[in-house]
Amino acid sequence: MSEPVLTQSQYSDDRHKTWQFLYERQRDNLSGKASDIFLDGLTSMESLTSATIPRVDAMAAQLGATSGWGLTIVPGLIAVEDFFALLARRKFCTSVWVRRADQVDYIEEPDMFHDTFGHVPPLMNPAFADFMQRFGEIGLALSQSVQEDAEQRVLELQRLYWYFVEFGFVRAPGSDGAVADRGGNALIIGAGLMSSFGETNHAWSLRHSLRPFDLAEIMATPFITTEVQSTYFLINSIPEVIRDMDDWFDGLTL
Ligand SMILES: [Fe+2]
Repeated sequence: MSEPVLTQSQYSDDRHKTWQFLYERQRDNLSGKASDIFLDGLTSMESLTSATIPRVDAMAAQLGATSGWGLTIVPGLIAVEDFFALLARRKFCTSVWVRRADQVDYIEEPDMFHDTFGHVPPLMNPAFADFMQRFGEIGLALSQSVQEDAEQRVLELQRLYWYFVEFGFVRAPGSDGAVADRGGNALIIGAGLMSSFGETNHAWSLRHSLRPFDLAEIMATPFITTEVQSTYFLINSIPEVIRDMDDWFDGLTL
């Protein structure tokens, strides 16, 4: 499959300025709110900075050297089975269009700022990188299953993605699991939050009323893609999510 490669000179100066604005506004806004998993990844990625719209090949090379992940350019949303298949091969997909200056606060479909600034830094983290691959493997197996309820199982898995990868909070390292203190040590990890100034602050204002991680509950909680979320979950640890997801999958009949 041939992939389009946009060089930085193909974007207008205005588009590079919009990127810079988005990046710097969110980097400043996320200070003290984002998890180390995200911030450490962002800091270490010299291929992903505010200076210009980043090069996909440079980010892919850096990811590859660190966690064995790669990037594939896609024109927009892709079929869910294709998405799972890419993740299973440690490939994340990104668009290469960047929103206009009048769209900095809201876009309907994910653009490159969401796909890269939001999603790529956590892929530098070994535990998160392993979760994403395992998620893809399970999703792919379910998408190819002939069982009657396979579609419902895929939907449940997508809810885990939504409430963790897109809109999740994670417990800060070193904090204990006491429910009473949840919120005091909750930090943002979800890419849907990372790439949205407004929703970062909305979610942050609700950090003391997060729902504790419970895979069955997450999988039973529908989501709406077109509205600001009202429900956020607090992930205790990524290994716990992987273990519970594996246990759930092992209990299914394919
Ligand atoms: Fe996303």
